[in-house]
Amino acid sequence: MDPCQIVKRKLYCSYRLEHLVAKLLLTYAEKLKDSPKEREARAILAAIAIESSKHAELIDMIARLYNLYEEVDDCSQVIGMPWLVLQEFFEEVSSGRHIDLKKFIEKQIWLENAVGEETYHKLLLPLLSLKEELRNCADPSTLSSIELLFKKIALYEKWHEEMLKKIDGAIATSI
Ligand SMILES: [Fe+2]
Ligand SMILES: [Fe+2]
Repeated sequence: MDPCQIVKRKLYCSYRLEHLVAKLLLTYAEKLKDSPKEREARAILAAIAIESSKHAELIDMIARLYNLYEEVDDCSQVIGMPWLVLQEFFEEVSSGRHIDLKKFIEKQIWLENAVGEETYHKLLLPLLSLKEELRNCADPSTLSSIELLFKKIALYEKWHEEMLKKIDGAIATSI
């Protein structure tokens, strides 16, 4: 497949990925109760959801600006495992089935790591560094700007993971 087409599809699916992470977190956060622990978890999950929505918006803005979008129906072909896990998890959470807070947090830690490490560091950033191969769809300086944006977003993924580990630790000590 043409490298330009791959980048365009990955940008589009990264946008959908961030958007779905935000939806998942908010859907779950709404189900939490009012105990101090659950309220703390709710605040952190909502904060991460706000940032994920912001990431989705940033990706959408930059991809549209540079005409680097190609819509696909099935992002599991483009992103692989993190997409499949996220989609399945979202369906589980929105079906109304009870999911224990600790279980939810642990799965979300895995997901944040997969988004940052697998999707951005291992998939998207190496692709954006192929300046010559991508000359047909973007000039090198545009690609450098997009690379910078994703490096920044990936840093936030690390922070999301740390925040979730903080809730996980707090739950563990309260048992
Ligand atoms: Fe994000
Ligand atoms: Fe995140």
